Amino acid sequence: MATVLGIESSCDETAAALVTDGRVILAQRIASQDEAHRPYGGVVPEIAARAHAERLTPLIEATLADAGMTLADVDAIAATAGPGLIGGVMVGLVTAKALAMASDKPLIAINHLEGHALSPRLADESLGFPYLLLLVSGGHCQLLLVEGVGRYRRLGTTIDDALGEAFDKTAKLLGLGYPGGPAVERLAREGNAKRVPLPRPLVGSAEPHFSFAGLKSAVMRAKVSGHHDDADIAAAFQQAAIDCLIDRSRRALHGAGPVSALVVAGGVAANQAIRSALEALAAEHGLPFVAPPLGLCTDNAAMIAWAGIERLGQSDPLDTPARPRWPL
Ligand code: KG4
Ligand code: ZN
Repeated sequence: MATVLGIESSCDETAAALVTDGRVILAQRIASQDEAHRPYGGVVPEIAARAHAERLTPLIEATLADAGMTLADVDAIAATAGPGLIGGVMVGLVTAKALAMASDKPLIAINHLEGHALSPRLADESLGFPYLLLLVSGGHCQLLLVEGVGRYRRLGTTIDDALGEAFDKTAKLLGLGYPGGPAVERLAREGNAKRVPLPRPLVGSAEPHFSFAGLKSAVMRAKVSGHHDDADIAAAFQQAAIDCLIDRSRRALHGAGPVSALVVAGGVAANQAIRSALEALAAEHGLPFVAPPLGLCTDNAAMIAWAGIERLGQSDPLDTPARPRWPL
């Protein structure tokens, strides 16, 4: 049995996890920084980096203790090396390098997006390649054909905002606070989407790309008009986003060739209404639908450890750089 220690610190979650090649999460700890960033309505990079620096080492020690293990028991140390907020990524990667050097274990530098992209395989051992992945998070909105580990074909991406960003801005506009996605989802349940007409940018266009900037502006106009209930606005925004995701994913399915499943991952994949709509789309195409459990959708270290398991045998040099931008 092989075990990998995973470290994640690219945004506002400080996280460590121990995962085996038998798909068992032996231990995992996540320290959320929501409280520290809430007064600012979004993540403040400098505050995030300092919090990671303070918390990461004790968090790793606690995770190892939870599993009754020491570094001597792990086979490799995997850490997010980008993309993300550079201060936080550096804290995680430098810590991983120090641990790798001290314990003489291989360092595996993981692309955070690959962590999200492979996370469904940690939860579902039957999920084989290739699969069509809708990756929706705070920083990204992409349709990827996942052909294998390290083999990602990008079929579509957002030409402006990420969907998580649109959820967070809608939340801010409606005074729902930070983080916004779950709050918008809750409020949307009480509203009627039909009462607020909103656009569906790029729906029907040939390439499976996304655009959410115009939708965001329309939400703002609906709010300042004073004619609509906040719950109706939240419901209408979420429905417009779902209609875009479904139309674009359907388009990608038609162009992708044979796939084993329709898969969703990333923080926004925690949204139940989005999951249900994608499940229906998969059924329409006779495909299984795979979505990781909620805790594996938002940022976590188990997905980084799992990507390390998928990459076992790789050993990255100790001068591997932290990368603020790193396309898959
Ligand atoms: O993957 P993630 O944890 O961090 C990034 O790598 O970006 O994604 C965070 C994003 C945030 O924008 C958050 O508002 C959104 O995921 N999110 C949601 C939900 N839960 C988290 N969006 C919609 N509905 C949710 N239930
Ligand atoms: Zn993420």
